[in-house]
Amino acid sequence: MTKSRFHTRQTTFRQLEIFREVAERLSVTEAARHLHLAQSSVSTQLGKMEQALGYSLFEQIGKRLYLTEAGEEVLSGTREIFSALDSLEMRLAQMRGMTLGQLRLGVVTTAKYLVPRLLGPFCKAYPEVEVQFNIANRSEVIRRLQENLDDLYVFSQPPEQLDILAIPLADNPLVVIAPARHPLAGQRAINWEALAGEPFISRESGSGTRHAIEEHFARFGWHCSPRMTIESNEAIKESVAAGLGISIVSRHTLLHTAPGNLVELDVQQFPIPNRWYLVRWRTKRLSPVAETFAQFVREADLLSKDNT
Ligand code: PGA
Repeated sequence: MTKSRFHTRQTTFRQLEIFREVAERLSVTEAARHLHLAQSSVSTQLGKMEQALGYSLFEQIGKRLYLTEAGEEVLSGTREIFSALDSLEMRLAQMRGMTLGQLRLGVVTTAKYLVPRLLGPFCKAYPEVEVQFNIANRSEVIRRLQENLDDLYVFSQPPEQLDILAIPLADNPLVVIAPARHPLAGQRAINWEALAGEPFISRESGSGTRHAIEEHFARFGWHCSPRMTIESNEAIKESVAAGLGISIVSRHTLLHTAPGNLVELDVQQFPIPNRWYLVRWRTKRLSPVAETFAQFVREADLLSKDNT
C-alpha cells in the first residue's frame, strides 16, 4: 500500500490546524496570535507541510497573502478532516452521555455585550466546554455561517433565502447618541430634522447597525450620508463624546461602558426596533455541546425580560 503524503509522519493534524488558521485569516501574524505561537513556528510548520505535499499553499502579492489553487484544495480537505473529527468526538461524547468539547459561536459586534451574560452561567454549569467566541460584523458573521465555520450564530435580520432556523434571542434597539453637552440633550420627542445638519458618524456598510439605519431612513425618506464611518462601537462612542458628531448605536453598547460625557437623545421614530436571533443551519447536526447551549439560551428566555 502506498503511503499518502498526509501520512502522519509527514503532515500532522497540528500542521493542518495551523494551515487552516492561516488560510482562514490570510495572515500568519493573526494566526500565530490566535494559536499562541511564534510567527516563526507557524512559518516553519507551513514550510514543512508544503515540502511534504510538494505544493506551495500560499502566494504573497504585495502585502497580501492569497491561497494558491492547491492551497484552496488543501483547505477544503482540511475542513472535511476536522469536521469528521468533530463528529467522531461528538459521537464519543454522546456515548459517554457527557457535555464536553468545543462550542463555536459567531456573534455580531453589537451582541458581544449580551452573549457573555449567557456564556457566564453556561460555562459555570459546563466547565469542560471550551468556547470559541468569534466576533465580527453582520456580513462577516453571515459569511462564517455560509462557510459553516461555527455551530451557532447571533445576528439580526436573518436572510430569508438561507435554509436556517432563527430563534428570536433579544431586542436590540438602536438609539441616537450625542455628547452630553449637546443643546438638545434632555429634550423630549426631538424631531430628526432638527439633527439633520449635525455631522453623522456611522458604522460601516456590511454591519447590521448600518443596514437597520438605512432601512429605517428609507422608510421615512431621510438621507443617510455619514461624515465619518467607523468600524467599532467603542470608537464611535469615544468620537461622539469628543464632540465629532452624533451617531446611532445599539443601546446595549451603552449599558456597561457608556462614557459619562455621552447621552441618548429622545428622538421621534427612535429607537429603531431591531432584534437578534440565534441562528443555525436547519439540517446541521449540532454537537451535544451546541445543542445544550441552544437549549440553555431558549430557557434563559431573554426576550421576556427587559434587557435594555
Ligand atoms: P453589527 O451588528 O452592527 O455589529 O454588524 C448588528 C446586528 O446584526 O445586530
